[in-house]
Amino acid sequence: MTCKDGKADNVANEALPRPTYLPFYPMNPGDGPHSYVQNSSYQRGVVDIAKPIIEDEIARKLDIKNLSSTTPNCFWVADFGCSTGHNSFPAMQIVTQAIYQKHASSGLITPKVPELFVVFNDVITNDFNTLFSTLPPYRNYNAIGVPGDFHGRLLPESSLHFAYSSWALQWLTEVPKAVAESGSPAWNKGEILYTRDRVEVCAAYLNQYAKDLEAFMEARAVEMVSGGLMALLVPAVPAFWNPETEYTIPSDLNLLGSCLMDMAKKGKFSEAKVDSFNLPFYFTTPEQLKAILESSHSFALERLEILNNPGKYTLPSVNARAAFFRAVLEGLLTDHFGSDIIDELFTLYMEKLAASPVFLNPDKDKSIVILAVLKRRSD
Ligand SMILES: C[S@@+](CC[C@H](N)C(=O)[O-])C[C@H]1O[C@@H](n2cnc3c(N)ncnc32)[C@H](O)[C@@H]1O
Repeated sequence: MTCKDGKADNVANEALPRPTYLPFYPMNPGDGPHSYVQNSSYQRGVVDIAKPIIEDEIARKLDIKNLSSTTPNCFWVADFGCSTGHNSFPAMQIVTQAIYQKHASSGLITPKVPELFVVFNDVITNDFNTLFSTLPPYRNYNAIGVPGDFHGRLLPESSLHFAYSSWALQWLTEVPKAVAESGSPAWNKGEILYTRDRVEVCAAYLNQYAKDLEAFMEARAVEMVSGGLMALLVPAVPAFWNPETEYTIPSDLNLLGSCLMDMAKKGKFSEAKVDSFNLPFYFTTPEQLKAILESSHSFALERLEILNNPGKYTLPSVNARAAFFRAVLEGLLTDHFGSDIIDELFTLYMEKLAASPVFLNPDKDKSIVILAVLKRRSD
């Protein structure tokens, strides 16, 4: 897929390493009332707030002269975990525009405008039909879809110039095994995600997160050209916040877990069914993320910024908040509990949200988004 001599490098026969992972549950497809398209303005906000930083990093650090000489006149960008595309398209517009501007101002002797290719990646079950049927008709790049797990290799060696991923790295390849094992010190009985007081559970989740993020970085290290840039937008939590008076995304998920427990107590399903369900998500702190990224031998961490959570004012009602979580979680929940429970679960969740003095105040949302920019080192 690199375009040296206009030919594609053939990697089809290479055995690309693939980790084991959960069956994947994509975001709700289509553009109906429960779809991710209609219910992801929370994630959308981050694109605008990150725009000036991404533009600045490309303008100052993308070494267009050297990169252009590795794959003459071709430039490859990829969005890892793009979902149905509607948040990815504005992001890819920003990135590609900034690359063109950098090229225009770079004083290359042959100022031939490079051809840009954007790779849209997500899990194989993602609704790529919605993505491709809603691609912006006037765009400055060629669009390509690459389905597959981004923790493994997806692209040819040394082919990628700019990697991007937003709101996707919190998904783990699997729930840590100890968390689901009764009798283990990290058994997460009665909860569906780690809570702060369960130290062993938190440690097991963090360990899995670090392992997965390292696998992501290793795969990108092979795919990216030396000097290539990577921008990661990572949903996170601060190291310190007060769970009595404030909340973060994990608090919402814990609240949803309490609704499942209530339903089990009413006999809708067994408590054991809830015990055996854990969400494959981890929301890092800035310190944890920095330590993992800095341990990479292949990438230099150029910038790490905590963005004031731009999404928090986009969920103005209990209905909007429930719809946001439903669009992300419905596939996972349906697979474990069946589709019959979904409406009742989210109705109960809305009742609990409405009764809480904390959750309805966006200023109490302490969730953050981290923007990390990394540069591929030379080997
Ligand atoms: C919350 S959505 C974010 C989508 C989009 N980036 C945005 O900002 O709206 C997370 C996306 O990451 C995808 N994803 C999660 N784990 C993945 C993996 N291992 N490989 C590829 N995509 C993955 C999910 O399928 C989902 O579409």
